[in-house]
Amino acid sequence: MLTWPPRSLPSVKVLITIGLFITMLWNLKYVLNLSDIFSRAPRHTKPLMILVWEWPSKQAPNISTDVCRDLYNIMDCWLTMDRRLYSLADVVVFHHDTLQKNRDKLPKEKPPGQNWLWVSLESPTNTKALAGWKQTFNWVMTYRQDSDIFMPYGKLVPNRSAMVNIPNKTSLVTWVISNYHRSQKRAAVYRNLSRYLHVDIYGKANKKPLCKDCLLPTTSKSKFYLAFENSIHRDYITEKVWRNSLMAGTVPVVLGPPRANYEQFVPADSFIHVDDFQSLAELATFLKTMNASRYRQFFAWQKRYSVKLYVDWRERICMICTKYASLRQGHVYPDLESWFKA
Ligand SMILES: *[C@@H]1O[C@H](CO)[C@@H](O)[C@H](O)[C@H]1NC(C)=O
Ligand SMILES: *[C@@H]1O[C@H](CO)[C@@H](O)[C@H](O)[C@H]1NC(C)=O
Ligand SMILES: *[C@@H]1O[C@H](CO)[C@@H](O)[C@H](O)[C@H]1NC(C)=O
Ligand SMILES: *[C@@H]1O[C@H](CO)[C@@H](O)[C@H](O)[C@H]1NC(C)=O
Ligand SMILES: *[C@@H]1O[C@H](CO)[C@@H](O)[C@H](O)[C@H]1NC(C)=O
Repeated sequence: MLTWPPRSLPSVKVLITIGLFITMLWNLKYVLNLSDIFSRAPRHTKPLMILVWEWPSKQAPNISTDVCRDLYNIMDCWLTMDRRLYSLADVVVFHHDTLQKNRDKLPKEKPPGQNWLWVSLESPTNTKALAGWKQTFNWVMTYRQDSDIFMPYGKLVPNRSAMVNIPNKTSLVTWVISNYHRSQKRAAVYRNLSRYLHVDIYGKANKKPLCKDCLLPTTSKSKFYLAFENSIHRDYITEKVWRNSLMAGTVPVVLGPPRANYEQFVPADSFIHVDDFQSLAELATFLKTMNASRYRQFFAWQKRYSVKLYVDWRERICMICTKYASLRQGHVYPDLESWFKA
């Protein structure tokens, strides 16, 4: 039989007590969350100001708005090219190519807490006037993994909705080459390889330049692409792999650092390395006799990943802010050349 008020009033009290206890735990969780946020707060409290001494590409974009927030969702990161703000800048960015002609015009004094960042995406072979940069730069941003800010030409990003999509093929091997020098290793490998198979060549070197929007449609029609680097250095894996090959949907035949180095960037079964073969005749046979099912295996990565290219200097420079809190404050490179040529 039900009676009201219930005979056992104390049980109501218990219920209320439990309720209060849960409320208290809830508030406590909120407090704990807040303290978690505080402990992870970055060292700086104001927005970071990044002064770009000279814009790395020919056409400087309009960076008068909050481009890092608007384009990349990176907060509290102000870019400027106004040198009058020099003394307020947290980081000053110097692109190597623009340094040479202005060497004597660099500021003599560095405000306390300010760090200078040296930026270059070229390999040491292609970098002139590296000597004499001693005790100047605090941080470096290059394609090398051991840089303070590692800036690859591209990367694979996990994509759960990715699908395998192999474009239709009308040719076997393609190469796009604008600066052909007989003395480069890639030129010698090409000459030998072309004794065993036909290579479709585009680019300035062959007087068949490709317009910006024609590159991918052209390389994608080829089963294989000669992703031959102009010089061979650890981590120097350029848009020849990321854009011309992987993004285009063709299989890169790479010439560059050893296979193990490539495998730090892309799956082992996504590319063919020239060094995988005893001779270029064997490589040519492998390419010419490959059946459709073997060919498809090179695209297994497409089930899980998409290619992300880094091409816009605004994105690269905004990334300084996302890395800033983890960079070594007050570090300085005693000799840039010896670091880069190591
Ligand atoms: C840059 O963009 C801002 C805001 O859109 C505009 O006010 C300014 O005139 C632009 N500057 C140049 C040089 O185009
Ligand atoms: C993921 O893959 C789908 C299908 O290929 C594609 O449309 C989409 O752009 C990819 N997402 C990213 C972030 O690349
Ligand atoms: C590729 O070739 C197939 C079969 O010939 C054809 O059905 C398809 O439309 C082609 N795809 C493209 C993108 O041209
Ligand atoms: C090209 O072939 C020549 C002659 O067979 C050989 O001596 C040379 O080492 C080869 N070079 C390369 C880069 O394969
Ligand atoms: C295709 O080539 C692979 C590797 O050479 C071989 O193992 C496989 O049996 C071939 N498949 C067919 C259908 O010929």
